[in-house]
Parts: sequence; structure tokens; C-alpha cells
Amino acid sequence: MNREIKLTEDIYWVGKIDNREVPFHRLILAKGTTYNAYLLKTEKPTVIDTVDIEFGREFVEYLSELIDPQEIQYIVVNHTEPDHSGGLAALASRATNATIVCTEIAVPELQEMYKLHHRNFLVVKDGDTLDIGGKTLKFKETPYLHTEETMITYCIEDKILFPCDIFSTHVANYEFFNDEANEDITEDFIGYYNAIIHPHRRYVRTLMEALKGLDVQMIAPSHGYILRQDVQKYIDLYAEMSRDTTLGKKVTIVYTTIKNNTKKIANIIKETFEADNIEVTVFNADKSDRAEILESIQEADAVFIGSSTKYADMIGNLEEILKEMKEMNLEGKIAAAFGSYGWSGEAIEVVQDYLNETNMNVQSTSNVIKSTGMTHVEFPIRVRFSPKDEEKTERIKHATTFVTDLLLSSI
Ligand code: FEO
Repeated sequence: MNREIKLTEDIYWVGKIDNREVPFHRLILAKGTTYNAYLLKTEKPTVIDTVDIEFGREFVEYLSELIDPQEIQYIVVNHTEPDHSGGLAALASRATNATIVCTEIAVPELQEMYKLHHRNFLVVKDGDTLDIGGKTLKFKETPYLHTEETMITYCIEDKILFPCDIFSTHVANYEFFNDEANEDITEDFIGYYNAIIHPHRRYVRTLMEALKGLDVQMIAPSHGYILRQDVQKYIDLYAEMSRDTTLGKKVTIVYTTIKNNTKKIANIIKETFEADNIEVTVFNADKSDRAEILESIQEADAVFIGSSTKYADMIGNLEEILKEMKEMNLEGKIAAAFGSYGWSGEAIEVVQDYLNETNMNVQSTSNVIKSTGMTHVEFPIRVRFSPKDEEKTERIKHATTFVTDLLLSSI
């Protein structure tokens, strides 16, 4: 029997300490990490999150020392990334009476990843509660923090927050609680935030507002230390680190348009930036003074260039401007291409090619995925015909907001 790690009389840590130098999100975790999972041994025993897939069997064996898996009624999956859901297949095969609790978006992901099409799922939404017999769990969806399907779980009676990746540290800690740590964990806590959470800080700010309504006495994340001392200090650190302080940024948008659809995209981009108090200047390249456009580009922190597509190419005099941009020193500026099209949208790709020949930081879907894991942010911004439907408008806003967050990042 392993040493029992208890958060309360009936809540157990049942995770795995991984003290290797773990490759993770293009980082090497020099101090290793842990995959924290929790057993709530109530009248309807519940497991919150699991461990990395590599340790699934070991996880179930350890858990079985504390409870017969057949007694488990619920398995809460806060996040589907395999370092936390990886033990689900092994657990589900033993805990055959358990219902899997997760967000709607998580259901098909878990079904596909772990061949769980035949299992019972309970879909929970923001604010839903679940009676697990002696305790009540309350759920909050936290989309894009850091993936779309994520949620956090709060135990009302014990005032414990189970936020999965949020508030984590990557340390293979054998002292499970922060008050037992041999050294100050603040640096590791901030390092984790910078590496994993900071690109998603817009959603951290939303979470901070929600947490104001909760009495959180302990935070039990899914990596590293369980925070039971100075809990508010760590919440305050997230509030502080997720704040954007670098104001005074400027964006220049230049476009050409056939039937005003590309102009409409430019306007959505403009309004989205302006909602975050970013100064935006918009030029129709065919109706504006070229020297004025180039001067604005030179002064901008980010530049969006768009064209409608006609006969598989850009329209108007945009190409002349792009040629001049290639000769300018635009280093450090963020750039993105956009445009409306009807068939193939070649102009948008040509604009992207031109931008890639400048020394700007040109946004691409590939780079967004590699740097943040976000799949809902797409560059260049390609819109078939009019942008005036909700899905298209949301895509434009997601891309624009991504650039806003790059511009306003304080680190
Ligand atoms: Fe710790 Fe997003 O996984």
C-alpha cells in the first residue's frame, strides 16, 4: 500500500509523479511534472481527472488500493489532453458503472480517443451542479483555457477548486502541498503560467471574475503542488499576470475590394481592435494617397492587408504597395492577410506571400497552432463571399483578438 495522500478526510490524491525530463509543448520539463488525479470517496465515489496514458494501468492499480473501481459512480474529465485523460481507458474498463462527466465538446473527443462510444456520458454546462452523495460539485466551462473543451470543478462543501491545468506547476514534487515545499514555488508557478497559460490570458481574466463569487480554500490542480496555503496569493498572481498593461498600440488596415465584402471584413477587424482600445487606421488602397498609407504602415504595430480575388489575383493597386513594403524596414511589426473570395481565394495567398517577403512577424495558422495549440484561430483570414454570418464574423474576431493579445502582452 502506498502512502495515502489526503486533501481532506475523504478526498485523496491518486496521481502519478513523473520525475523524468518530460518533453511537453516543445519544452523539456527539467524538473519533471506530476499528473494529479483525485478520488472523492463519497456515497457516489467520484474520480476527478486521470493521468498520462503511459501510466494508466499503474494509476488504476493505485486507485484500486483505495476503492473497488466498480464502486466509482462518476469520472470527471476537466480537460481531454492526454496527460489528464490518458488513464481514462484503463479506468473505464475497470470502473464499468461510472458515468463520464465532461463538457459537450469533450464527449466526441473522449469517445474517439479512448473508444468509449458505448459509455454513459453526463454533459455539464456552466453552473451545473452534481450531487455525489455528501458533496456537491459545481462546474464552470472555461473554453480556450487552454483548449476549447475545458472546464473546472469546484467542491462546494470543501471549498476546493479542481482547475486541471490552471494554477499548476511543472515539478515532480514529492511534497504534495505548497506549505510542505522545500523552497518557494513562486518561480515555478509563474514559469508554468508563462509557458502554458499566458497566450490564453484573455480567458484567465474571465475566470478571475467567476472566481470572485467562490470561496476557494484550496486549489488542487493537475500538475505540481496542491495549494492550500496563501491560496489568494496565487489567485492574485494570475489576476496580475493576465492583465494587459501595454496600451497605445496602433494598427493599420489596407484593403482593396470589388463588392465591399473585403471592406466589410476590414470593418469587423477594425471594430474588434477598437473594442480593446487599439487605435486603427483603415485605407482603401484605391482611394487613398500611397505615401500616406506607407507612412501609416511604418508607424503601426500591426498591419492587416486584404484583397478580394478576381481572376485568381489581387485587385487594384495593392501590389504596388506590397512591393514597396518589401523594401521597408518593418521588423517587429505583426502582419496578417485577409480577403473575401468566391472560388479559390488566390489573392489572399498572394498577399500572404508578399508579407512573408518582408521582415514582419506574419501570422499563419501553422504558427498559431505550434505556439499556442489554438485551432480556432486561422490566418490568413479567408472569407467566402460576405462575412455577414455569425460563424464567419466569429472567425474574423478570433484572429483579430489573437493579434490584440500579441500586441498587448506584457511579457
Ligand atoms: Fe496538462 Fe493541457 O494538459
